[in-house]
Amino acid sequence: MSLNARTRYSGLAMLLHWLIAVLVIVQWRISETAEEAPTREAGGEIMANHFALGVVIFVLVALRLVWRQVSPPPPPVVGHAPSERALAAIVHFAFYALLLVMPIAGWIALSTFGEAISVWGLFSLPVLPVPQNPDLGETIFELHGASGIALLVLAAVHTLAALKHTVRDKDGTLYRMLPFGTARG
Ligand code: HEM
Ligand code: HEM
Repeated sequence: MSLNARTRYSGLAMLLHWLIAVLVIVQWRISETAEEAPTREAGGEIMANHFALGVVIFVLVALRLVWRQVSPPPPPVVGHAPSERALAAIVHFAFYALLLVMPIAGWIALSTFGEAISVWGLFSLPVLPVPQNPDLGETIFELHGASGIALLVLAAVHTLAALKHTVRDKDGTLYRMLPFGTARG
């Protein structure tokens, strides 16, 4: 096994990590832009992109989790304290849980309004067989919105942790997720 294989994530894992990270930020900006739209109709049109992108993110995360079984992450950095490893594992688990549950919750909520998810007109996810109950849908969307904020807070903490390890501790943590630089095991 080469040194890289033991200290770095695989190329596909890196690609999916950065793609998902960028799309999550785009997803957040779309919902903010929709909220600031001048009319309800304009906001709705912008949100249609949020719904479609949610489907794309879900598929990418599912692909990432399958690939994780085929090509598991490198062993943790030796210099990281057990508490840091545990915290990182909890945050990573929370990311995957939120990124799978949030789009499914969105799909269920939209279905309570009797609305399907159109993925930019290419194909549609059908309305789920749930009770037509917009009040329930609103509540699920509120929880979804709160989960979105939690996801963004975790992303900020995660980013600061990666930078703290790389810049202050100089332990090469960031390079485990990049195809260059000196990654350490
Ligand atoms: C992994 C995929 C998704 C992510 C990361 C995500 C993330 C977010 C974020 C960050 C917000 C803004 C929260 C705020 O500022 O208050 C939000 C709001 C919203 N999202 Fe998503 N979303 C995803 C998928 C979906 C899907 C598939 C749907 C619908 C089918 C959906 C429907 C909504 C709605 C309606 C809101 C406004 C909620 C409210 O505050 O009432 N989202 N989402
Ligand atoms: C919304 C944004 C982000 C999300 C959802 C996210 C999610 C994740 C997840 C789930 C993992 C675990 C990978 C696995 O073991 O399967 C991970 C690892 C990692 N992420 Fe992120 N990430 C985001 C942004 C960032 C940013 C901005 C940075 C750097 C500045 C970063 C640096 C890293 C590094 C270095 C690792 C590997 C950590 C280790 O070796 O234990 N991530 N990320």
